[in-house]
Order: sequence, then C-alpha cells, then structure tokens
Amino acid sequence: MDSNESRWRVPSTIWLLIFFVGLLYFLNVFQIEEYYTYPTPGRSEKFYAKESLKGFLVKTKGCRIPYMHPMDKTITKYIFKYDPPVCNNGIPSLYESNFTSLYLVNSSLPHYNLTDTKDLKCCYQEVSRRDVKGPKDNDNSFFTNKTCTNIGESTNIDKNYILITCRVNKHVIYTDMFWFVPSKVNNKTEMINDVTPPLNVLMVGLDAVSRLNLHRQMPKTVAYLTQIDAVEMLGYNKVGDNTFPNLIPVLSGLTEGELKDSCWHGKHFDNCTFLWNMFKNKGYMTSFGEDSSWMGLFNYMRHGFSRQPTDYAYGYFNRISEQKVGNAHSMNVDQCIGSREVYKDFLEYIGSVTRRFRMDNTPYFAFYWGASLSHDYLNKPSTGDESYLEFFRSLYEDGYLDNTVLVFMSDHGIRWGSIRQTYQGRMEERLPFVFVRLPDDYKKHHPQIYNNLKVNSHKLTTPFDLHETMADLLDPYSLTSDNIHSRNDTNDRGISLFSQIPDTRTCETAAIDAHWCTCQQSQEVAEDDPKVLEAAAFVVRRMNSLLKDLTECANLTLDAVLNARVMSHADAITNKKHEFEDYMITVRTAPGEGVFESTVRRVLEGTAHEIMGTISRLNLYGKQSKCITDFHLKLYCYCKSLFF
Ligand SMILES: *[C@@H]1O[C@H](CO)[C@@H](O)[C@H](O)[C@H]1NC(C)=O
Ligand SMILES: *[C@@H]1O[C@H](CO)[C@@H](O)[C@H](O)[C@H]1NC(C)=O
Ligand SMILES: *[C@@H]1O[C@H](CO)[C@@H](O)[C@H](O)[C@H]1NC(C)=O
Ligand SMILES: *[C@@H]1O[C@H](CO)[C@@H](O)[C@H](O)[C@H]1NC(C)=O
Ligand SMILES: *[C@@H]1O[C@H](CO)[C@@H](O)[C@H](O)[C@H]1NC(C)=O
Ligand SMILES: *[C@@H]1O[C@H](CO)[C@@H](O)[C@H](O)[C@H]1NC(C)=O
Ligand SMILES: *[C@@H]1O[C@H](CO)[C@@H](O)[C@H](O)[C@H]1NC(C)=O
Ligand SMILES: *[C@@H]1O[C@H](CO)[C@@H](O)[C@H](O)[C@H]1NC(C)=O
Repeated sequence: MDSNESRWRVPSTIWLLIFFVGLLYFLNVFQIEEYYTYPTPGRSEKFYAKESLKGFLVKTKGCRIPYMHPMDKTITKYIFKYDPPVCNNGIPSLYESNFTSLYLVNSSLPHYNLTDTKDLKCCYQEVSRRDVKGPKDNDNSFFTNKTCTNIGESTNIDKNYILITCRVNKHVIYTDMFWFVPSKVNNKTEMINDVTPPLNVLMVGLDAVSRLNLHRQMPKTVAYLTQIDAVEMLGYNKVGDNTFPNLIPVLSGLTEGELKDSCWHGKHFDNCTFLWNMFKNKGYMTSFGEDSSWMGLFNYMRHGFSRQPTDYAYGYFNRISEQKVGNAHSMNVDQCIGSREVYKDFLEYIGSVTRRFRMDNTPYFAFYWGASLSHDYLNKPSTGDESYLEFFRSLYEDGYLDNTVLVFMSDHGIRWGSIRQTYQGRMEERLPFVFVRLPDDYKKHHPQIYNNLKVNSHKLTTPFDLHETMADLLDPYSLTSDNIHSRNDTNDRGISLFSQIPDTRTCETAAIDAHWCTCQQSQEVAEDDPKVLEAAAFVVRRMNSLLKDLTECANLTLDAVLNARVMSHADAITNKKHEFEDYMITVRTAPGEGVFESTVRRVLEGTAHEIMGTISRLNLYGKQSKCITDFHLKLYCYCKSLFF
C-alpha cells in the first residue's frame, strides 16, 4: 500500500516520458505509424493512390500494394480465440521418445489402470513405406514387419517408423507410433569439401496463412524472426489458386501445366526435378515432410512418387500414424496422433532431422509443409505461436542457423469464409507470408546480397523468384555483385531475391494472372451496373460450359451479384492506356448458394469478355459435389442427386 502511494508521487513529467517511450516502442513494434497517419484501407484507396511511399508496402513503377493493418476494423469481427484440441481424450502416452530411444513414462501408468509394470507386455514393429509399382497406384502403401520386438523400460531404436503395442493379459491397452532419424550418411558418397562450407537450406511452410494473419495469430514468432534479422517479403504475391500451383513454382520453377507436360504426365512425380533433386546432385542430404499428408502436395487427387523422393520423409510417417492412432478430427485434419498434437510432433521431427544432419556433418536441403495447424481455420494458428517461437528460438540459440538459410513461408491466405468477402480478406488471400533469413557470417561477407534481399522486400515477388533464390544457394559463394546484377531482366518470370527486382516489374511480367494480382488499385462499382451484370452472366455461362460434359451436375443460374470492383492497372500508374477493363466480381449461384469470385476482362471496343485466371470458390462445397471426382470442377458442381 505504502509503496503504491509513494509511486504516485513520482513527478508527472517522468510518467509522461515513460508514456511516450512506451508509445514509441509500441508504434515501432506494431508498425502502426501508417495506421494513424492514413485512413483505413478499403475505405479510401484513392487517398492512397495520391500519397507517396507511406501507405504502400510496394510502390514501384509497375506495382503498388497498399499497406493494410492486421487489425483493420473490417477484419476484427472475424478474429477470436481458438481452443487447442484435447488429444486422446486427455490420456497421456504410455511411452515417449527422444532422439535415440523409446521409454516408458511411469506417471502415465495410472491412466491405464496400472500400478506397476509387472503385467505389462510391450513390443514394437518396424513400419516402412512400400515402393509403388503401377503407374497410377497411389503412394500410400506400407509394410508392417511381423516381428514384434519386446521392450521394457526403454530401448534404443534404429528404425525410421515404429508401431508399439502394449498388452495386459493379452488385451491391447495401448498402441502408438513413433519416428526416429537413424543416420543414412553413406560414407562412400564424396562429401563436399570446399574451403567455405556449403549452406544448408531449411524451408518451413505453414499452409494458408496470409502475411497479415501471421501477424495477428503469431505475433511472438513474427517478433522473434524480426529480432534475428529475417527479412519479410512484403510484396510476395501468389500465382495460383491453392497449394499445388503455388508450391510447384517454388520447388520446380515451373507452372503446374509445364510440370505436367514436361515430367509428370499425371502419373508419379519421380521424373521431375525439384529443389531437393538439385541439392542431392551436389551431395547434400535431403528431407521433405508434410503433415495432414492424406491431402499432401503430391498426394491429394494425385499419385505421389513411386520411390521415396528424399532421404528423410515425414509424410509417410504422418499418413500411417494418422491411420493407426489419429484422433481429435476436425474439418479436414486429424489434430493429434496418440496424445501428441500433430504439428508439434512435426516440429520435433524437423528439429531432430537437423540435429541428425549436424551429427553426420553433412550439408542438407529440407522442405517441410505444415497444414494441420492452419489449413481450415483462420484463428487456429494462434494456438501454435508459442511452439513456433520455441522452435525458431532453439534452432537459432543452438547454432543450427549459423550455416543455414531459413525460409518460413506460406502459399496463400485463407481461401474461404466470411473474411474472404471483405476487400482486405481478398487482398490477404493473395499475399502469403515469406521470411528469408541469411546466416550472419554469410551476410557479413556478402553485404550486397543481403542488401538486395532487403530492398526486394518492398518489391513485387513470387514463388518463381523463391525458386531462383534457392537455386542460387547451390553455389552461394559464386554470387558476386557482378553476376547478381546481370540477372535483373524485366521480363524474367523468376528473378532471384539476391539480385535486384526491377522497378518496372508488373504482374504481367512476373506471370501473375490479373485475378491474383494485388498491384492494381480498385474501386467499388454498383452491383446492378449493366457492365457488371454482363460480366456476372459471363461467369455463370463459363461455369456451366466447364460442367457441360458432367450430366451429374446441375445447370447454375445467377442468384445475386454480391460485390463488384473495377481494377485500374498498375500500368495506369505509368500512364499507359489500356484497351480493356477488369471487373472483379463476387456472385452467388443457385442451386447450392455457391459464392464465386472472378476477374472478368472486358474489351472496351466491343463486347468480348475473358476470365482472367480461374474462378475462385469463396464458400465450401462440402458434399454438394460428391458425385464427381475432378477436383477442379468440384468447385462448381452441384450434384443433381441432391434434388431428390
Ligand atoms: C533418451 O532416453 C534414454 C532412456 O531414457 C536415455 O538413456 C538417453 O540418455 C536419452 N537420450 C537423449 C538424447 O536424451
Ligand atoms: C519407473 O518405475 C519402475 C518401477 O516400477 C522403476 O524401476 C523405474 O526406475 C521408474 N523409472 C523412472 C524413470 O522413474
Ligand atoms: C480403467 O478403468 C476404468 C474403470 O473400470 C475404465 O472405465 C477405463 O476404461 C479403464 N481404462 C483403461 C485404459 O483401460
Ligand atoms: C523384419 O524384422 C526382422 C527383425 O528386425 C528382420 O530380421 C527382418 O529382415 C525384417 N523383415 C523385413 C521384410 O524387413
Ligand atoms: C562413417 O564413418 C565414420 C568414421 O569414418 C564412422 O564413425 C561412422 O559410423 C560411419 N557412418 C556410417 C553410417 O557408416
Ligand atoms: C520416367 O521416365 C522413364 C523414361 O522415359 C519412363 O520409363 C518412366 O516410366 C518414367 N517414370 C515415371 C514415374 O513417370
Ligand atoms: C540492373 O543491373 C544493372 C547492372 O548490370 C544496373 O545498372 C541497373 O541499375 C539494374 N536495374 C535495376 C532496375 O535494378
Ligand atoms: C442453364 O441456365 C441458363 C440460365 O442461367 C439458361 O439460359 C440455360 O438455357 C440453361 N441450360 C440448360 C441446359 O438448362
């Protein structure tokens, strides 16, 4: 009490000072200055267009992307607290694993109605991936070794994946699955032995998180990454609708269509060259992992690989463990395997693989994609902030980033739900987060590269650029200020983020469809404007023509135009006249109340219309399209069978 009273006697000027220092800190941390200086985006974009650099994330000759506040008042109503799942009904694991061993957790015994271990019989079996034979066989078959090896209190494991079974009087009371990361370094492979050690590459992805949603959901992680000097790419614009068309460019430098024609052909992906193949050819060890892998990049409606693509792979473990001990199912994902949250298990795996590589003293390329935490719900990623923070913190503090380039990234923002029908939600969907962190030593010796990366954080960038950037890391010490500058041709589709992205870059030269382009300024137009109605009718006709061969699907009609905007092209900034106008419209169709978003280009002289990119679906189709399997057309199909 006393101390309280005396505190209030501190002269008010000091309090004022503390207040202002606090305010400065707050403004700096949350980068709020623009928010106070400028009105809410979405309300008054014209205002932005008149302003100089402030108010824009990207402001170049070819592109302007407005600054938006993560907690804009059009968005706050969609943000709420999300409760983490309860795994395995709250029953803890009977066994746990560390880097080398499996061991009994004594304190769990009462949860299995046991007071001691004398009646407990546990054994483990190795589970392994089986190579696929037929060209269209799915990459999801596994082999469980019949031999079940007994375990007591603890045991060393040298397998990749194991299934453990515990019995009391022949009754199974516990099953679980664990991964390990045994050494696979083949001492015969010639190790890279340059004077300068090769740089490892660690790419960690989080599905469907916009840059702003990362700031809302994972502020601690963002603050930490910023603190360790990771560079945030503010103008990273997606190039396709969902995960596949946005990650294929990162991994292969190709579009989905180019990949299909050149090496995939709708079969297995083995003949394609992905980043891990490029690094493998230089003698690196490789790892690729996904969770929720049943809907994984190469597996959802696709056939995967006939042979395991990388030295270590989490996706296979994830698939089999979800089949055996998956639980706490929500929407599209099993949130837990046994008593562990899937995304936490995945982060631990990543940590263990990097540890293995360090112990084996081998350079590595690793690409990991997490969906279980973020795929389905806007607000769920917040439950992982602490875990991701700790994950990055221990990588950094334990020296794992000393010689490793870290990329933390997403593919797009949330693609459906109410937020998608706001202006900001639509922009966010097209602007996923990307952080790139260079090792301190490398930065010190290559200041030009680090500087270009920072300058490019305020440029329009794409997944194609990320591919070029990673490819540069195959030979990171040959990048000199001479050769990085020579590769800034305006018309290059992908430009390494280590060179300078030209100021004149537009969505067109960067191969971003108008539908996904966030460079354009836009203005609202009346929903009953005749040009809007024409465009809306055109969209519905297009969907019907896509569905015309599918007799299972109902003919769609226009129910309502929900929103319409006319886009002014980035080139308008450079005063170039265009012969067309792009309308971005949101329509609802019947039957089924599907909500769709499309960009329709209208040629000014004449009546020709053209759909730019694909038609996005903003609400879930759920079971409406269960009568067909084509996953592109599922977005549009309403099954006639639902009429009866
Ligand atoms: C893993 O657990 C085993 C058994 O409890 C123990 O002997 C070993 O030291 C632990 N290893 C590590 C790396 O923590
Ligand atoms: C677990 O309990 C057993 C006896 O039931 C004991 O021998 C063992 O040391 C205990 N282990 C730990 C880690 O407390
Ligand atoms: C333990 O015993 C209780 C009460 O008999 C029973 O409901 C529960 O299912 C048992 N748990 C296990 C893991 O066997
Ligand atoms: C199954 O496991 C046993 C014991 O570890 C091993 O000897 C055997 O080769 C394994 N079988 C196959 C088909 O991998
Ligand atoms: C590779 O060789 C080193 C020593 O030269 C040895 O310690 C290590 O166990 C070997 N690794 C494998 C996988 O054979
Ligand atoms: C890869 O290419 C070879 C040679 O053209 C072909 O025989 C093989 O079937 C292809 N594999 C896959 C998985 O497409
Ligand atoms: C492109 O590189 C050249 C040097 O080769 C440099 O003079 C020029 O400023 C660069 N252009 C841009 C737009 O960065
Ligand atoms: C589908 O609906 C449109 C109106 O949106 C109508 O003009 C067209 O004739 C219908 N087609 C069929 C095959 O019923």
